[in-house]
Amino acid sequence: MYATDEQRYLYERSKQLLQTPTETLLAENPAELADELRRVILYHEWRYYVQNDPVVSDYEYDQLYKLLERLETEHPSLVAPDSPTQRVGKDLTASFNQVAHLTPMLSLDNSYNAEDLRDFDTAVKKLCKLPADSAIEYCVEPKYDGGTIALVYENDRLLRAATRGNGEVGDEITANIRTLRSVPLQAGFSQYGIAKAELRGEALIRKDIFEKINARRQSAGETLFANPRNAATGGLRMKDPREAADRGLEAFLYQLGFASDEAGNNVLEQFKSHSESIHLLEKLGFKTPLAQTNNHQHLAATKNCADIEAVIEYCLAWQDFRDEYPYELDGMVIKVNRLDLQALCGYTSHHPRWAIAFKFKARQATTRLRDVEFQVGKTGAVTPVAKLDPVPLAGVTISNVSLHNEEFIKSKDIRIGDQVLVERAGDVIPYIVKSLPELRDGSERPVEYPTHCPVCRSPLVKPEDEAIWRCENADCEAQVLQRMIFHTSKSAMDIEGLGESTIERFYKLGWLHSIADLYRLDYEKIEHLEGFGPKSAANLRQAVEKAKNNPIHRLLHGLSILHLGQKAGKLLAAEINHVLDLRDWDLEKYQQIKDIGPVLARNVLNWFQNEHNIELLQTMEQLGVNLRQTDEDKKAEANTDGPLYGRSILFTGTLSQMTRDEAEKRAAAAGATLVSGVSKHLSILVVGEKAGSKLKKATELGTVEIWTEAEFLERIN
Ligand code: IVH
Repeated sequence: MYATDEQRYLYERSKQLLQTPTETLLAENPAELADELRRVILYHEWRYYVQNDPVVSDYEYDQLYKLLERLETEHPSLVAPDSPTQRVGKDLTASFNQVAHLTPMLSLDNSYNAEDLRDFDTAVKKLCKLPADSAIEYCVEPKYDGGTIALVYENDRLLRAATRGNGEVGDEITANIRTLRSVPLQAGFSQYGIAKAELRGEALIRKDIFEKINARRQSAGETLFANPRNAATGGLRMKDPREAADRGLEAFLYQLGFASDEAGNNVLEQFKSHSESIHLLEKLGFKTPLAQTNNHQHLAATKNCADIEAVIEYCLAWQDFRDEYPYELDGMVIKVNRLDLQALCGYTSHHPRWAIAFKFKARQATTRLRDVEFQVGKTGAVTPVAKLDPVPLAGVTISNVSLHNEEFIKSKDIRIGDQVLVERAGDVIPYIVKSLPELRDGSERPVEYPTHCPVCRSPLVKPEDEAIWRCENADCEAQVLQRMIFHTSKSAMDIEGLGESTIERFYKLGWLHSIADLYRLDYEKIEHLEGFGPKSAANLRQAVEKAKNNPIHRLLHGLSILHLGQKAGKLLAAEINHVLDLRDWDLEKYQQIKDIGPVLARNVLNWFQNEHNIELLQTMEQLGVNLRQTDEDKKAEANTDGPLYGRSILFTGTLSQMTRDEAEKRAAAAGATLVSGVSKHLSILVVGEKAGSKLKKATELGTVEIWTEAEFLERIN
């Protein structure tokens, strides 16, 4: 898509733009500057979202983007529909229009083993009238498991995007697709004599991003997505493109389905092979199966295989490799590479005869749903949990699976005694795909949703805007216990040695009634418990004492106030001097804080108007728990807008311009979280002199950004 010279130019121009004071730039010809910025930004989007190989930092990209935004705000006439700032439209889609695909989107035939593939090869040779001992070249690609999309480009512009729908007609989702930065808004098809083109592909969410989305939903008390595919297909159909943009969708294009010239003639014949057409898409700036992800260079995603035996070998290799691939795959797709041979094969009404899917080993199994139990969480949310006849699935035995909420059970018509289909994809938690009503014998019974809390018997309530029934009795034993478990967990007060089982044990012994009791444990008694001793009791005491000095945002998060996550904890902490200041806050005051919505505001308000809660905090303070905001914490917490907010960081080697301690303080003040080791959770490693094994490990991982000390200073200033 970009020639080397052009890339060099765009890179150098970016650096110049970044180094020139904004005021000087704004004094230049605004139309030219806007044009230049657009080119530069689109180039960086391509490097980042398509090539996986950015040449500027996120920070630098943001600077360029903000500058363009500013320019366009100051000169609204300069806003062009293809501007990178115009990806996210502001209008809601009331309902999706139906659009017809330029050619039908067919399905694929399936194969499951080497024999099936050899049969396919034999059939292809027959259709092509080739001798049985000849060899056919196949192009083998990953079979992506996301939401299928079709993109139409006309005169080099993205005209519209649609879902697959029924294959003939799909839903128009242009506004949402435009928010995907891996999808070029313009592409130079015309250089190749193509006036109109339809591309097929899949919208996907990377597995690690999917985990983050679910973690965010969990802390916000929202229902979780069962797998990346559901999150992706749901994302494509968001009514608000801003929400679609939040899902981190990416598009891989794997088929040029239609291409015509200005006169409307089919020009697909200019390509000799499928892979040639995919190479063109890549050249035009699309993300395709040719893309290699940074850390998987040893296995390119697409391969041209000289014969069916090579195909088999490649498919089997990928079957073992699939969990390491950053995206969810459910198999491989094998396509006859030569287009003239494809034409000889033709189509059935269901699938092309020149292609077949090789499906990976099932990660689904059927088993019987024995019973449904209802568990009460820390905020009173009641979650139905399926108790299954234990069944082995992709390496683990499954016997408990969450059923999420009442709506989930109803919509899938799940009954006790049913045979159910369970799926487990990669690292993703297992879930129930569906029940199998055709196997019922009449003994099955509907799941009865409780009207009262299974633990404390108080009536359950369902807030209008939520999918979940809740027990509203804050003194409910189950809630009290879950709140204690959450309170000591890593993301809250982080008390080592006070995990779930220990808390349950102390609770059963009658030692714990509220989170305040966690700070007045009797260590002499603990010392004499089985499994403890003087040493571990002393360690526990030390961990608890240490937690008493935690910054107050941890405490706020650890109170289990509905929807109050880590970020909100920090936002609130930055506004107060003492936790009990919140007693005097009214709704308006909460809502003045950016990013604190009305629902959360109301929850916090209610919590602090409850006398029991105030007494709890007072008791904790008497026990030595810190409720006061120190100046240092305040500085750090004010920084959710800091340049490193949301990123994790680690320093290694000897720093020359500051001490390690100082560096860590500055990183925290810039909003970063400090971590102690190199893992896939680390975002940035700052290396000083004589960096050793940490640097090596981070380089091997390939996912960690590696900065020099100077770079670090530059980014935080
Ligand atoms: S080719 C006419 N290639 O699999 C050719 N499909 O049952 C039809 N899919 O939902 C499709 N990865 O969206 C092709 N590399 C790939 C694919 C792929 C995933 C999906 C496709 C459809 C399903 C076909």
